[in-house]
Amino acid sequence: MIPESFIQELLNRVDIVDVIDKCTPLKKAGANYSACCPFHNEKSPSFTVSPTKQFYHCFGCGAHGTAVGFLMEYQGLSFVEAINELARMVGIIVPQETRDPNKPAPKVVLGLQESLQEAAQYYKTELKKSPRAIDYLKGRGLSGHVAAKFQVGYAPAGWQNLQSVFPHYESETLSVAGLVVENEQGRRYDRFRDRIMFPIHDQKGQVIGFGGRVINPEDTPKYYNSPETPLFQKGHELYGLFLARRAIRDAGRALVVEGYMDVVALAQYGIEYAVAALGTATTPFHIAKLMRQTDEVVFCFDGDNAGRTAAWRAAMNALPALTDGLKLSFLFLPKEHDPDSYVREFGKEKFESEIKTAMPLSQYILKHLSEDNPLQSQEDKVRFLNEAEPIMRQISAPRSAMYLRKKVAELAQLSVDEMQSLLKLPGLNKTPVQARPKLTRTTNSLYKRFCLTMLMQPALASKDDLLWIVGHSDDEILLRQTIETCLVHPHSKPVVIMRELEQKVDAKIMRELEHELNALDETLDLAQELVGARQQLQQIYLHRNENELLAKISEKPLSALTDGERNLLKSLGSKPKSK
Ligand code: CTP
Ligand code: MN
Repeated sequence: MIPESFIQELLNRVDIVDVIDKCTPLKKAGANYSACCPFHNEKSPSFTVSPTKQFYHCFGCGAHGTAVGFLMEYQGLSFVEAINELARMVGIIVPQETRDPNKPAPKVVLGLQESLQEAAQYYKTELKKSPRAIDYLKGRGLSGHVAAKFQVGYAPAGWQNLQSVFPHYESETLSVAGLVVENEQGRRYDRFRDRIMFPIHDQKGQVIGFGGRVINPEDTPKYYNSPETPLFQKGHELYGLFLARRAIRDAGRALVVEGYMDVVALAQYGIEYAVAALGTATTPFHIAKLMRQTDEVVFCFDGDNAGRTAAWRAAMNALPALTDGLKLSFLFLPKEHDPDSYVREFGKEKFESEIKTAMPLSQYILKHLSEDNPLQSQEDKVRFLNEAEPIMRQISAPRSAMYLRKKVAELAQLSVDEMQSLLKLPGLNKTPVQARPKLTRTTNSLYKRFCLTMLMQPALASKDDLLWIVGHSDDEILLRQTIETCLVHPHSKPVVIMRELEQKVDAKIMRELEHELNALDETLDLAQELVGARQQLQQIYLHRNENELLAKISEKPLSALTDGERNLLKSLGSKPKSK
């Protein structure tokens, strides 16, 4: 969990204009910036970005949101990925929420990235000094050129070598980065010792972690990786992706393998479009990441049983990410081989000709499901259908799904219609493009207008305003929450206040408010607006009170009125009904 306070701080620090400008060049247009909308086709710009509100908005298609939302939509990132990306842009590290809510929020740790970079440099230099490590790599057929390309290094034996690199060896940064481990006695030592080091890069080429391989075959574990850190989540990163990007584009495909050495050895033999999941199953994040680079992905795992299990898991994890334009296939190597040993024995050409014969996903699914199912008895077919059902449910790409359904029905000896009436699989019409709400420049209600001015200048909020809100309509709740939030964050940007409000106010109302905010004329004199809104708010309050009072008083005989009630009546200029 990323602490909410951090997200707010981040939104206060980043400038949405910088974020969007990197993806879609913006032009200054009055108080705002504009461009042709990146989310729909258009010839004249209706996409605007407001530096004061920190929101983007397209008047053409209705796309709108914050810097986080933009990255999610434009780059296809998850929420957490977008937060990480923004944090990286402004050079701060995303802390993770501590389990114990009573503990104080963790400090923002600075310098993770720099520490990892320094360490990588150090390991590289150490490799040059270690004939033993060099011999090991040579023995595995790696040239100096390829080792340099992958920035392969060596962590020497010894417990605290990194002390020579980092004068502040005690710094929390080093343990958070996963470079230093602390034992129960509080003693600190290097995580990686006497290992060949493979730096793991993010998509910008920055080092975010390491994998370390033993040289002595009797040492364990064979591979040791950086722990999950704020910069490095195994399930999200692919080893080699940064270096492979170009080759992936040129070849029109990416090859997913299991190990560091597979990637490096394939590159040594001229297959430079390979990447590896880092000792974990291929996740949907991995697939989505690759899909942004190419529309053909070939999985080639080890020929052993573990490799086959990994292949099936990769296939299952790919299902939700599948589109009709994407081609996934699986290459199964002979049992005794992994991609590294195969390419070394048979070379590039043979490997690539094998890639061409890789088994398409649909065929793999059917083969796997019918592998130990003779599909003879009725029971066989029922089992087959039971196993195929959850798989079919996960594929939403209409054409792929339809062909798979046809095949499954055939094998189960049913018609597609019979199978459908049995399983009630989801419809396969083109997934409707979600209609975006149209922006109408309605006259904002008083309450919304009041909220908007305060969002723009939270310092204008006053505690007294709370006195005038007595009702519990949606708008009144919104205003009350807005005032309270602004009182706590008087110097925050609108986007931060909105974020806080989202936790307290109905999502539908927040959407409306966001639309209103986007349409708000920024040239207004906000302080002046607020004075007017405040007056109206008070009038509504008094008017409401007046009516209530009149209703109450009119039930009483004149003689039963208190002095206060009499005075009020006088000031309101009304007379009670005489009984
Ligand atoms: N792996 C890991 N931790 C381990 C073992 C393996 O993280 N203890 C990951 C590494 O990414 C490794 C991959 O799984 O590269 C494949 O492991 P394995 O097949 O055992 O190693 P190889 O890649 O064949 O390594 P090598 O050829 O160097 O023996
Ligand atoms: Mn291997």
